[in-house]
Amino acid sequence: MKKNGLMKIAFVTMLGLTCFYGNINAQETKLPEPKKSNTEGSLMKALQDRHSSRTFADKSVTDQTLADLLWAADGINRSDGKRTAPSARNMQDITIYVGKADGTFRYDAKANALIKIGNSDLRKAVSGRNKFIQTAPIVLVIASDTSLLNGNMALSGIDAGTVVQNVYLYCAANGLGTVCCYAGEDTTEVQKFLGIKAENKPLVYMPVGY
Ligand SMILES: Cc1cc2nc3c(=O)[nH]c(=O)nc-3n(C[C@H](O)[C@H](O)[C@H](O)COP(=O)(O)O)c2cc1C
Repeated sequence: MKKNGLMKIAFVTMLGLTCFYGNINAQETKLPEPKKSNTEGSLMKALQDRHSSRTFADKSVTDQTLADLLWAADGINRSDGKRTAPSARNMQDITIYVGKADGTFRYDAKANALIKIGNSDLRKAVSGRNKFIQTAPIVLVIASDTSLLNGNMALSGIDAGTVVQNVYLYCAANGLGTVCCYAGEDTTEVQKFLGIKAENKPLVYMPVGY
């Protein structure tokens, strides 16, 4: 009787763990391998073309383009795990959240994957006074874990800014439009939406589209 009970507990525990981890895996979508050699023109041309856009065509962004964009923004570009964007003391405090029609995701640079956070529309949640964000197929939320930089907001802002410029340059080189939108002082609602701690501060919203 005792042995049967223990076996039942073990079975239920294993079933639970399988479901739990199965669920986590289901939430991770691998991105296509970034096309790092797909250079559309020179850096000087991208700098020449860089500008802010606030109107977007009704055209979606492919997974390949999204993978390339995220890698350009803050992907891993060296075997030691360092990134396309510099960060103060290599704290790698920046996380990019992605909002698109099929839900809200966190970019996992190491796994080259999107981790699903929820089904709701992040574009709507962050649009605020920048209503045009809702018309873009994608929005990137650039957040800094300020606790990694002892709350030094200047460093967080600079780290976010380097990612911002990477996004601008990728967009300029690939026929996409974007604009850096300040997230504002009070980001409590967006943090709740993303389910992130108070120290993980959204700083910039970047709609991206054609
Ligand atoms: C820190 C920062 C915050 C910005 N915030 C907004 C914003 O909330 N909404 C917006 O439409 N543009 C925003 N912009 C974009 C600027 O208005 C834009 O860069 C500026 O007008 C120059 O235009 P350009 O980017 O085409 O050179 C922001 C830019 C920066 C650098």
